[in-house]
Amino acid sequence: MENLDWGALGFDYRKTDFNARFYYRDGKWSDMEICDSEYINMHMSAACLHYGLELFEGLKAFRGKDGKVRLFRVKDNALRMQSSARRLCLPVPTVDMFVDACCEVVRRNERFIPPYGTGASLYLRPLLIGTNAVLGVKAATEAMLVIFASPVGAYFKEGLKPISVIIDREQDRAAPRGTGDVKVGGNYASSILSGSHAHERGYSNVLYLDTVERKFIEECGAANFFGIRDGKYITPKSGSILPSITNKSLRVLAADLGLEVEERPVSIEELSTFSECGACGTAAVISPIGKIVDMQTDDVYDYGTEVGEYSQKMFNTLQDIQYGRAEDKYGWCTVVE
Ligand SMILES: Cc1ncc(COP(=O)(O)O)c(C=O)c1O
Repeated sequence: MENLDWGALGFDYRKTDFNARFYYRDGKWSDMEICDSEYINMHMSAACLHYGLELFEGLKAFRGKDGKVRLFRVKDNALRMQSSARRLCLPVPTVDMFVDACCEVVRRNERFIPPYGTGASLYLRPLLIGTNAVLGVKAATEAMLVIFASPVGAYFKEGLKPISVIIDREQDRAAPRGTGDVKVGGNYASSILSGSHAHERGYSNVLYLDTVERKFIEECGAANFFGIRDGKYITPKSGSILPSITNKSLRVLAADLGLEVEERPVSIEELSTFSECGACGTAAVISPIGKIVDMQTDDVYDYGTEVGEYSQKMFNTLQDIQYGRAEDKYGWCTVVE
């Protein structure tokens, strides 16, 4: 195993040994190629560089308590990549290509899978780009799927800690019927300015509102939002929210805890009624939200400095499944032999 200070890892790129690549040319995908270079040789007029024909995924492999390595819900990431590819008119990889390559990248970079007990994991970044040379805006005829890995640290190193977020109406993340519901680079590019404004003001993240009425909650940074109230797990539904695989899993775990699950438009007026709320995604599983400040109205929603009971329970159960400490009764994990 690589000699790294696993406990000190953050969320930064770190070179590993191999990545997997597929090329789409002449109407078909190549076989998987294993590559040891971190670089891509690409035409300066490649469609991904000019018109944002780029999309990606993010998922993690965990070294479990029993020594087995588990990839979490890899098939769901494959399906989400397919829907992103359809939206950008990029060639659609098959689920098998995606899943096989993720498993192979995990195997080939075994020495970078963090030891059990460090809270760290091996993050996989599948990336699909249009590569043919273009001047005009059109669908890509050639593409490349690359899957690489990087070890990353636990998001909260000393246990969950509530974050402060800001409602900022200055910039929008995604438009209705735009690309908010798929994982394309453009969504993230357009969120950087509001994210940096939030950081300058001392907040961890931005709570985005719908862009028509600016009344309904969409997402919290690069994560979905949920609130808990009166025995209910409530999470926003909208055509411009990325369907989070963590949120999908939490909805199941919430129901197991006896919570009623509601997926529907959630108005900002409801913020004052939640007993706990949080952001959820692969990076942290759950980031409990301690405070939400509305920049325009100066309204402050305070949820306290303690982690909510349900947030903590759902976090623990999901991590127990990922690290092989609890039964994977829904078949979410793929054990990589
Ligand atoms: C915009 C956005 N929303 C939500 C999520 C959470 O999705 P997942 O739980 O599949 O990681 C992500 C990615 O992590 C994201 O980028």
